[in-house]
Amino acid sequence: MEFTVKSGNPEKQRTACLALGVYESRRLTRAAELFDHASHGYLGNLLRRGDLEGKPGQSLLLLNVPGSLVERVLLVGCGRERDLDDRRFRQIVAHAATALQETGATEAAIYLSELPVKGRELPWKIRQIVEAVEASDYRFDQLKSKKDAPRRPLRKLLLNVPSRRDLTSGEQAMHEGVAIASGVKLAKDLGNTPPNLCTPTWLAEQAQALAGEFSTLQATVLEETELEQLGMGALLAVSRGSAQPAKLIRLDYRNGMAAQKPHVLIGKGVTFDSGGISLKSGEGMDEMKYDMCGAASVLGALRACAELKLPLNVIGLIPAVENMPGGRATRPGDIVTSLSGQTVEILNTDAEGRLILCDALTYIERDDPAAVIDIATLTGACVIALGRHPHGLFSNHPPLAHALEAAGQTASDRVWELPLWEDYQEGLDSNFADMANVAGNRDGGAIMAACFLARFTKKFHWAHLDIAGTAWTIGKAKGATGRPVPLLAQYLLDRAIDAGWRYEHAAN
Ligand code: BES
Ligand code: MN
Ligand code: ZN
Repeated sequence: MEFTVKSGNPEKQRTACLALGVYESRRLTRAAELFDHASHGYLGNLLRRGDLEGKPGQSLLLLNVPGSLVERVLLVGCGRERDLDDRRFRQIVAHAATALQETGATEAAIYLSELPVKGRELPWKIRQIVEAVEASDYRFDQLKSKKDAPRRPLRKLLLNVPSRRDLTSGEQAMHEGVAIASGVKLAKDLGNTPPNLCTPTWLAEQAQALAGEFSTLQATVLEETELEQLGMGALLAVSRGSAQPAKLIRLDYRNGMAAQKPHVLIGKGVTFDSGGISLKSGEGMDEMKYDMCGAASVLGALRACAELKLPLNVIGLIPAVENMPGGRATRPGDIVTSLSGQTVEILNTDAEGRLILCDALTYIERDDPAAVIDIATLTGACVIALGRHPHGLFSNHPPLAHALEAAGQTASDRVWELPLWEDYQEGLDSNFADMANVAGNRDGGAIMAACFLARFTKKFHWAHLDIAGTAWTIGKAKGATGRPVPLLAQYLLDRAIDAGWRYEHAAN
């Protein structure tokens, strides 16, 4: 999509389609009023006749409105003005984006950035519009022999801002939205790719391809022999049952001062989680292709970061494995030595995410990170605890947890913090090794997994995002969400601003 930011009145705008807001009940927004005035009350008459109430989710497409310069007008229901909060605005904009895609117009102008949203400034609204429009024509249909894409998708969108003074901040927000949306799309594509194609080797190739697009980004792939030499016994235990070799994928984004410590993102990259010898039940097992969505979000966030040329040093680290049963597979009861030297009794081979992450966490100590965030579809228990709206958040450093909470609010990609108390730790005691990889019961499963990881993160500020409930949607609209790319990109944006990076609305 090609976006432009412009200020000006709607009645003077020549375009194939104008999107204007209507409040409930049948009240025109300011832009719609201006347009209505020029078309001698056409919209007002229509509303009085009862053709559109203005509820969110409603829209009405008008053709050849008399006295206007445009071919189409899309009236978009905005609900009651005083009810306009984040959630409502996102709903309205998502609906408008879908409706715009269906009009058949290849270019349009949208006048929704002036809706008053509680506690939100213009840049936030512009970004939401861009992200919604970019998401509205997302499909994963490479593997369908007949595609049902719209005949004439939208290609150009003009984003209207209230005044000329808003142009700079509007454009900056547009660039951010485009970068985040392209990171989200990458994460969705990787997540949706079937597990016979999306293997650890393929993921490594995708990382290399991404690095090839940006001079600031460099990819390194460690092979199994190197992982053995390093001593990553926990990571290697997971891929033993698979015909696919494990990879440790490392991406270095260098665009900050040499002395600036790197921000590290570690993504769980289990390209398929059968459970291993502790085999999962069959129902819904296909969804375990999404067990690499943490890895996908790392690649997506790095793409956004590189597109925005943030003046930071960031490392993306992806332990990539396939968890399968097989003659060589790890057995429940096996004891392995992790890179940290701590031994782990693997009581359940389905608790594999923590095994690959613990070695990645130890490995990154040598890079002296500013902070480390791991992102993982780690536990079904997290979905039970929080449902599918927030990511589960755990951290050993309250300011880092706070930074992620704030970034989640800004990006509308929210987290909810869970406790990481010492009290839970004894649940992981083992009679035969330094620890077990699971507790003896199912209590607090998301917390127990985080407690396991915490044993490998003593040397740096660390946060863990459990994205088991948020990385993909289930049911008829099954598909990767691209989350938490917006959160991670916002976190990095905020770090760039902290480091003195300035743009017009940085002060907000
Ligand atoms: N990848 C799964 C977690 C998962 C399950 C995410 C379902 C989303 C939906 C993870 O590797 C796993 O299997 N976790 C186990 C841990 C248990 C064995 C302690 C789980 O959640 O059941
Ligand atoms: Mn598992
Ligand atoms: Zn898993």
